[in-house]
Amino acid sequence: MHALIEQQLSDCYAAGVPADEATRRFIQAVNHAYLNADKEHARLAQALQESAVELTRRNTDLASQLEERQRAEQQLEGLLLLLGTTLDSSADGIVTLSQDGRIRRFNESFVQMWCIPDEILAFWRHDEVMAHILAQVAAPEEFLQTLCELIDHPETERSDILTCRDGRVFERRVRRQPLGVAGVGRVLSFRDISAQVRAEQEQKALLARLQEAQSQLLQSEKMAAIGQLAAGVAHEINNPIGFVSSNLSTMQGYVEGVFSLLAAYGEAEAYLVQQPQLLARLAQHKQEVDLEYLREDLASLLRESREGVARIRQIVQDLKDFSRPDQATWQWTDLHAGLDSTLNIVRNEVKYKAEVVREYGAMPPVECVAAQLNQVFMNLLINAAHAIEGQGEIRLRTGQADGQWVWVEIGDNGAGIAPEHLPHIFEPFFTTKAPGKGTGLGLSISHGIVRKHGGRIEVESEPGVGTRFRIWLPVNAAQNLAM
Ligand SMILES: Nc1ncnc2c1ncn2[C@@H]1O[C@H](COP(=O)(O)OP(=O)(O)OP(=O)(O)O)[C@@H](O)[C@H]1O
Ligand SMILES: [Mg+2]
Repeated sequence: MHALIEQQLSDCYAAGVPADEATRRFIQAVNHAYLNADKEHARLAQALQESAVELTRRNTDLASQLEERQRAEQQLEGLLLLLGTTLDSSADGIVTLSQDGRIRRFNESFVQMWCIPDEILAFWRHDEVMAHILAQVAAPEEFLQTLCELIDHPETERSDILTCRDGRVFERRVRRQPLGVAGVGRVLSFRDISAQVRAEQEQKALLARLQEAQSQLLQSEKMAAIGQLAAGVAHEINNPIGFVSSNLSTMQGYVEGVFSLLAAYGEAEAYLVQQPQLLARLAQHKQEVDLEYLREDLASLLRESREGVARIRQIVQDLKDFSRPDQATWQWTDLHAGLDSTLNIVRNEVKYKAEVVREYGAMPPVECVAAQLNQVFMNLLINAAHAIEGQGEIRLRTGQADGQWVWVEIGDNGAGIAPEHLPHIFEPFFTTKAPGKGTGLGLSISHGIVRKHGGRIEVESEPGVGTRFRIWLPVNAAQNLAM
């Protein structure tokens, strides 16, 4: 029996519980209900305890999850800070754009690189920043077009070169930036490569100067060797020419003497009528040697020989003029004489190709290094002769302008220069001639020499019609220039 029922029965029935059947069954039913209630209570208590345990476990889980999340957030914060400082410490200017091409973030270098002032930085409005950048790039339309292309084709990545109005050069790199599932943004980085570009340009210019100096050295060594040889040969030839020339003069005197003697003997023939045999022998001898012809021919032979010797003497003089070491210094020089002596030197190259027409104008003496200018004339004359197929004409013209400048023009009616070659003809080693035929140095050296004289070379050419080089030289160059 349930203890509570026993207690209540004893409280209600102090005289004892009635023993009738109905009361007994009732008590039994109540006892049964009490026992069931106890069982249910115990089950509920058990369930409650289990729930409490589960709740405690969940609570612990939540607490550790929260802790984890807080840790992750701290880490993220640290990471973002690190990323920010990393970005700011980068020498490259970096900016991120949203899908629609609007500026989202940027680093310190970007601000400095594009010189973004505080008033724009304070509000950081996209349009203002873009306007500020566009004002600095050399080709703003192109810049905008690239941005539009990037928006239209979010997957493309590229890198290119950007030039600013102030001469700075940036290397621009564009990378895609995935923005979660929402799409793709852009990371643009700008690297200032102005110093690198400048260094490359300086290196290129240095290399070109070196090449020019090397080619000049090459040709001046060649010219010096030729000059030395020519001067030596000229010196050696001078002696025999001297005595041949003087012998020819003496011989002319002798021949005149012999012929006048012969004339005197001729007059004496009238007295030899008693010696018909002797007369006949003399007449035959005269006929055999053809005395009349001999008289005329000897005179012209001697004249031609003297002219020949004079020409040799002129050639020797030209050789000396062309290569004389004392002409390697600044001197007041008659350029017409230089042209003439050079023409004589290259006569062989030119004479079968072209008729040389000289149209010399009035020209004062020019202060120059004559041997070097002769070298220029020679290069131009030989080029002109080479340009002529068959028979042509080379025209030499000279003149002056303003009293301060003189010009020498060497024109030909040869093949002309193709327009695509024209920008390159003064470059060292540029040649259209077959391998072994030309080194491509003639014009580059000539250009260098004329430039050192403070002058310039102009060229006009038409394929199939001809080419005209005009050298402009200041009359008084040495005053301002040091060779
Ligand atoms: N008068 C000319 N007519 C046509 N082409 C010319 C003339 N002068 C120069 N050129 C062109 O310019 C090129 C360069 O000339 P340059 O004198 O520098 O070298 P090159 O004559 O080829 O060789 P080299 O070193 O022997 O002078 C020539 O190969 C030729 O194509
Ligand atoms: Mg040449």
